[in-house]
Amino acid sequence: MKKLYIETYGCQMNVADTEVIFSLLAKHGYERTEDMSQADVIMANTCSVRDNAEQRILGRIEQFHFQKKQRPGVLVGILGCMAERLKTDLTDTGKVDIVAGPDAYRSLPVLLQNAAPGTPQINVELSREETYADIKPVRLDSNGVSAFISIMRGCNNVCSYCVVPYTRGAERSRDFHSIVREACDCASSGYKEVTLLGQNVDSYHYEDCNFAGLLRMVAEACPGMRIRFSTSNPQDISDEVLQVMASHANICHHIHLPVQSGSDRMLEKMRRRYTRAWYLDRVAAIRRYMPDCAISTDVIAGFCSETEEDHKDTLTLFEEVGFDAAYMFYYSERPGTLAARKYPDDVPQEVKSRRLEEIIALQNRLSLESNKRDIGKRFQVLVEGPSKRNPAQLCGRAGNNKMCVWPDMEHKAGDFVNVEVLDCTQATLLCRLCED
Ligand code: SAH
Ligand code: SF4
Ligand code: F3S
Repeated sequence: MKKLYIETYGCQMNVADTEVIFSLLAKHGYERTEDMSQADVIMANTCSVRDNAEQRILGRIEQFHFQKKQRPGVLVGILGCMAERLKTDLTDTGKVDIVAGPDAYRSLPVLLQNAAPGTPQINVELSREETYADIKPVRLDSNGVSAFISIMRGCNNVCSYCVVPYTRGAERSRDFHSIVREACDCASSGYKEVTLLGQNVDSYHYEDCNFAGLLRMVAEACPGMRIRFSTSNPQDISDEVLQVMASHANICHHIHLPVQSGSDRMLEKMRRRYTRAWYLDRVAAIRRYMPDCAISTDVIAGFCSETEEDHKDTLTLFEEVGFDAAYMFYYSERPGTLAARKYPDDVPQEVKSRRLEEIIALQNRLSLESNKRDIGKRFQVLVEGPSKRNPAQLCGRAGNNKMCVWPDMEHKAGDFVNVEVLDCTQATLLCRLCED
């Protein structure tokens, strides 16, 4: 057996893909190692979404090269979105032997076989059909509690700032039979939670099954398991999906609904196909069906030509919605995107950073307020294990995705327990275990 080491960057889709890659290569004599210095093959599954994500990986390639120099014969592979974007630029460095894009993983055994020092191998072909539906992933989650299931690949929404449609290709949905089968496999191997993944889950479509139908099928096939999903797109999230969530106790009441900006002018320039009013209407619909549903978001500060007025619109939208959590970024121009071709990246870095800090400060307050509203409530929590901060406490997530900790150690990862919230910080609910 040869030893394969893979580092995974970027979104949850990449985590799911790494699990597919381990599975594909296990059939060809590669076993997983977590120790890079023992590996025959060193790979990174990469992300291109922002420039700093790519810079980090370019730094890692230097580290990998150091291993290669010490142990000639070691092969270095760059996979995923950066492989798709940079192609031969990566092999031209002389430090990378294999470059494989997100739809090319079935060819990895052949690429590995043919790669040798001085003869790099590349496959960055995108596909309209590939969903890896028949591959049973090798799970990386060491706890065996929570698994990702990829339900679609690619994206057809050409948001002007975003590189994903170029790195992941056209949208395609995976056969629902294979999704339900994978969820049932997870349940029978002891998993307690699955997260259904896609760049825009609401546009899932396979034969006559839409996302609401898929969600219902998975929830009903695996009644003992928690179901989560990500990412929802404000333009597409339907009342039907909300109804299915509200009527199945095992679907978690949490929706990740990236808004990107609170300004209609920015949303239009970003090519998001909704307005601020539409977004607020969707938030109202979510709360109508599920008053306890947590809502998280993504936001970009300092997109092309953003004014103080536009930025204030984002702050007031955050205030109005009262998000439970947010991933916050400043705009990073991505070569080849519509925005890079059409609009100057004209908000100075210090202005981007200051606006981002203002959003973060506001969200910190909103997260604390959201957590305070949960004091006194009871939640069912899925135990993950000892808390990283304080190993004398256990931790796990409530259905609303909030991290709970409590000081009793008698349960193990994968147990469902009931807790009562006694206090909180901005990041965590401090709880006690309930007897019943
Ligand atoms: N499909 C998801 C998002 C995938 S990318 C959706 O549509 O919401 C994850 C997040 O990265 C995006 O929501 C956006 O907030 C951020 N992002 C994408 N491109 C970016 C860029 N060029 N600069 C900064 N942030 C970006
Ligand atoms: Fe990017 Fe927009 Fe597709 Fe999300 S929906 S991956 S932001 S293009
Ligand atoms: Fe990054 Fe690709 Fe995901 S660009 S965010 S790893 S789809």
